[in-house]
Parts: sequence; C-alpha cells; structure tokens
Amino acid sequence: MVTDVDGNHFLDVTSAFGVVGVGHNHPRVVSAVQAQASKLLHGMGDVHPSEVKVRLCERIAGLVPLPQAQTILGQNGGDAVEAALKTAMLATGRPGILAFENGYHGLTYGALDVTARADFRGPFQAQLGGFTKHLPFGCSLAVIKEHLQAHRPGAVLAEPIQGRGGIVVPPPGWLRGLRELCTETGTLLILDEIFTGWGRTGSWFACQHEDVLPDILCIGKAMGGGLPISACVASAELMSVWGISTGEALHTSTFLGNPLACAAALAALDILEEENLPNRAVVQGKVFAEGLRRLQAEFPDLITEVRGRGLMLGLEMASPALALPLVPAALRAGLIVLPAGDGRVLEFVPPLVITTEQIDWCLETMRTLLTEAT
Ligand SMILES: Cc1ncc(COP(=O)(O)O)c(C=O)c1O
Repeated sequence: MVTDVDGNHFLDVTSAFGVVGVGHNHPRVVSAVQAQASKLLHGMGDVHPSEVKVRLCERIAGLVPLPQAQTILGQNGGDAVEAALKTAMLATGRPGILAFENGYHGLTYGALDVTARADFRGPFQAQLGGFTKHLPFGCSLAVIKEHLQAHRPGAVLAEPIQGRGGIVVPPPGWLRGLRELCTETGTLLILDEIFTGWGRTGSWFACQHEDVLPDILCIGKAMGGGLPISACVASAELMSVWGISTGEALHTSTFLGNPLACAAALAALDILEEENLPNRAVVQGKVFAEGLRRLQAEFPDLITEVRGRGLMLGLEMASPALALPLVPAALRAGLIVLPAGDGRVLEFVPPLVITTEQIDWCLETMRTLLTEAT
C-alpha cells in the first residue's frame, strides 16, 4: 500500500518497477537499514569490503542455482548487465552478443546496445557499440543455431520471461533449447533475471522452472527490498577470468556493495526465504490469473490474452488506445498499474505478500473500469 502527499491510499500492483517483492517498507527491511546506519553508512567497495557486503555475497552464493557463485555487485540492473557483458568478453574474447527483440536490459550504453527498444536507442544510435544482433524472442532454435554458428557471438542474453516487453513467455522448452545450443557452440548463456528473479514467477529464479542453469545470472530489483542493489553472478571458475586484483581493479565503482543496501538485501532475502514467498507467488498467482481470465471471459472484445507465470502477469488489450487510458483511470480509483510492451499490455506484478482480498479488490476495480470503457 502507498499513501500520497494528500493522504490518498493506493494498492500498488507494480511493486514499484518490480522492486518491492516483500512489500513497501517491510518493517524488517527498515529496521535492518536503521541498525546498519548506526554502524557504517559507506564502505570501500572491493578494496576494504564491509562485513555486511561479504555476508550478502555469501548469501547470494547460497541461493542462486550456480556452483560456487561469485558476484560483482552494482547499484542498478544496468550495472549487472554491464558486468555480465564484460565477463563474457573476458571469458571468450568474442565481442558479439545475441539478444532478443523486445528485450529490456537497462539504458546505460552497454545495456542499451543489448536492449532492443528503438525509442530508447534512437537518439543515441551513433554512440552505441553495435556489438549486438537481435532475433525474435522465442524464435526457432534452428535459426538461433545458424546465427551462433555463422557469427560466433561470445554470449546469448535473454530474459526468461520478457517483463517490460509485455510479459512475454517463450514457448515451452525454448530456454532449455537455448541452453543446449550455447553449450554445443561454446557460447555463454547470460540470463537477465533482474525482473523475474527472487520468487516473482513462483521459483527463486525463472530458469529453475525449466531446470536451466545460465553461465551468468543478472539479478537486481527485488533483491534490495527497496534499496538500490544488483549483481552479476557466475561460477568461481568463470569469474576467475577477471584475475586477482593487484592494485587498480579492472571493474569497480565507488558505491559498490553499499552497506545500507547490503543490509536491506540480507533482510529481504531472509523474508523471501522464511515466508516462503516464491511459493506464495504460485498460490496467489493462480488466484490472480484466474480472476484476470474471468475478466477476459466477461470482456472478450477488450481483452485478447492473459499470460505470465506466478505473480508476473500481463493482461493484453485489443489496442493501446484501450489499455493506456486505464492506467490513469486506475490511479484515480486507487490502483497503481503500469503499461508494458507496445502499450497494449497492463502489467500485474504485485508484491509477493499481496493478500487474496487485495487481489479481489484489484480485479473488482478493473471490472468497473472495463465496464466504463465499453
Ligand atoms: C529484465 C530487466 N533487465 C534490466 C533492467 C534494468 O534495470 P535498472 O532500471 O535497474 O537499470 C530492467 C528494468 O526494468 C529489467 O526489467
């Protein structure tokens, strides 16, 4: 729940860009930050890492599906993607990246090169590295194989479910096929789980639904419980390509591993684990999806598809002209919802702690708005 400056209350089904998986201002996250604030506000990144940063890296290693995982922390998702691209470059010596149309990986220059959105790329095209080729998301594995063999990119980068692209789920087995092709051709697989990670889709990481392990995992958003922190994670073996720092680190940043953000992340991960929130995403996701499908049955001319997994759901409308006005109308009714994709999709990615009563209220509000739209 969110309260604005005038005292109006809103139900936030966006998790504020997918960040507050444990809910806004979870008291345990707040008190972890307060306790950390009284000890140490700022550390020295990777030169003199704070104790809380070390604990977080160990905790991440225990939760991600990668052997002996090592992390490069960042402040936002774009940082994690930049670190993944650099890791792939160091490991393979091959600069090319295969990414997918409609994909969103952040807007810093490396991340923007792999992000497929023409609107974000357009004004900066002349400064982009141009190392990325994009193929349609979910396209034939034969086409991907041909591309990997012909162009020999160092890595393939994909979201397991495209988030900002409009909650797009690839065909069953596609991610597994991608993994196999990468292994077969000696290409690294980078999975961007910045949105899908930390329980959102009903497992800790979306790749686990298909038993797929990436070589490099990008995580962020919900990890910090509301504070800015992200990570690029890979096995110790792969991360060894960075070498041991003998002075100036090859990749670092001033606020890397900020103690407040690390403390918030440790609390958020504890909550996710102790409250079994990935499983809650399965249970509440089913309730939410069934409700959205009932709306589709009631308004078949307006709603063309309901899709997603866990608590990462999209309602596709017949046109952006129908979907976009619903966003401010929902806000006036007390519901924070965001559009995605080409504007036809409304995104339902609430905190994993959302109650059934809140889901019902959201669905009833949508029902009223859709009735008014007809
Ligand atoms: C899948 C994915 N990757 C990367 C990013 C970029 O994250 P940030 O905005 O924190 O840089 C986002 C943001 O929405 C995202 O959804």
